[in-house]
Amino acid sequence: MITKPLSLILITLGLAACSDNKVPKFDPKEHRPAGAATLENISSRSYVHPMPHISRMDQLDFWTGFSLFRDPWVAAPAATRDRDGLGPLFITRSCITCHHAGGRGPMSEPGIHKPSSLLIRLGSVTAGINIVDPVYGGQIQPRHVHSLVNDDKNQLMGEALLDLQYQEIEGKFTDGEIYQLRKPSYRLTGLNYGPLAKNIGLSPRYAPSIYGMGLLDAIKQADLLAQEDIDDRDQDGISAHYNRVKDVSSGHDTAIGRFGFKAKHPTLAQQVAAAFNGDIGITNPLFKDENCTKSQINCQQTSAVGQQGGPEIPAKLLRLVNLFSTYISVPPARNLANKQHGRQLFYTSGCQYCHTPSYVTDPNYTIPALANLTIWPYTDLALHDMGIELADGITEYKANGNEWRTPPLWGIGLQQKITGASFFLHDGRARSISEAILWHGGEAEPAKQHYLKMNKSDRQALLGFLKSI
Ligand code: HEC
Ligand code: HEC
Repeated sequence: MITKPLSLILITLGLAACSDNKVPKFDPKEHRPAGAATLENISSRSYVHPMPHISRMDQLDFWTGFSLFRDPWVAAPAATRDRDGLGPLFITRSCITCHHAGGRGPMSEPGIHKPSSLLIRLGSVTAGINIVDPVYGGQIQPRHVHSLVNDDKNQLMGEALLDLQYQEIEGKFTDGEIYQLRKPSYRLTGLNYGPLAKNIGLSPRYAPSIYGMGLLDAIKQADLLAQEDIDDRDQDGISAHYNRVKDVSSGHDTAIGRFGFKAKHPTLAQQVAAAFNGDIGITNPLFKDENCTKSQINCQQTSAVGQQGGPEIPAKLLRLVNLFSTYISVPPARNLANKQHGRQLFYTSGCQYCHTPSYVTDPNYTIPALANLTIWPYTDLALHDMGIELADGITEYKANGNEWRTPPLWGIGLQQKITGASFFLHDGRARSISEAILWHGGEAEPAKQHYLKMNKSDRQALLGFLKSI
């Protein structure tokens, strides 16, 4: 039986199926995982480099957009009107603090602190979709600007500190080799606005890398939905389903979610605008209100004094950050010719059931440079039950407490080299690609079992492939 994601590859690429197993024939084009949009060379800038094939004008706008991504925002009112409006409550001052060099940032150390790359979402663990804390809102903002209002009773304060702890746990591969994992626990302390509401839980999110996102936006919706298999009718043990979320600009409330660890945002533009608002406290044409809740009175007053009409980042500048986010190139794959055994193990272990290797982007996509490209991101962008160990218990639209969106795997092997940090999964608990696989459970349990049963040289072959794509 040809499984669902493989059939998609066969359709989109016209590859011939191997008669003996499910491994598609190696295509040398896999070396350029973003087609013409792939970077030529690898450097320390590889996760924030423009696609080589875009126009000179777009390249200039890309770097202006990059400066808005990189440079810190300041509190209003300030002389630099183009980048004031920070806060009143915020997590960090710039995008790049979290998305370090465009990739994943340094992970928080254990202990009590105001984390940067690791943000804390709040949501109901018992009932209700998208229920947030009435006082703290949907995300903890550990930092604040100076209050512009003198109000002894309602002081402006950062919301809380995070107490992050790890417990080392041990397991064994079938061949007897021992491995270690670190199981995280999260607690809020110094809650400056009183306790959290009952049944509100924490969902930690470690900033992902952001290269190639424009291409994920350019995958045809029909090619994603072709992989939806809610009742597991093809009986591969995996029931992919897509999040259905609100598209803020059109008001449409059943758009297919693509971005964020639970696929909360339908478009890259909405993801970027939500980050400005939720993480830095910058209002914008899509999210017009500061993220102060009703009971955070000083936050509201400070924003009313600071904000001088209109969004803090106007459409003109937001367009540049969107353009930057859209055109970040994908690094080339390296030496796949001698990773064929690892590649084969990827397919025979069933990794590709969720990490769908390849697509052709929409030929009619609105941005011509991103249209009709053969890409190799290794994701279905669908939600999967990943088991209780990875669960956060929190619902975002149709994504339940056990579910996460499959992340893309292209370029992950360069993480350490480019950003100096190498942590994986939604909360950065995995210190290596191997640990990330070992945390897979739920629908991905059979794939993990394959990995556990491999001998050492096969494990290394699989990891070698993953580090090269
Ligand atoms: C406080 C840290 C932080 C800051 C600041 C931040 N991000 Fe993020 N970013 C994250 C996290 C965490 C996620 C995953 C969110 C989720 O699960 O919903 C994310 C997700 C994203 C994604 C989607 C990635 C994917 O795989 O779906 C993009 C694109 C992105 N951010 C761009 C930006 C831009 C542009 C800015 C600045 C305007 C920014 N971010 C600011 C932490 C941050
Ligand atoms: C049932 C679907 C499914 C299968 C099968 C699956 N994965 Fe995953 N994978 C996911 C999801 C979902 C995540 C994100 C989990 C999280 O962040 O908590 C993930 C995360 C990862 C990551 C971490 C990526 C990052 O950026 O943090 C790696 C590496 C990975 N998978 C490799 C593999 C390999 C190798 C296999 C086969 C042995 C495999 N996966 C099988 C769904 C799957």
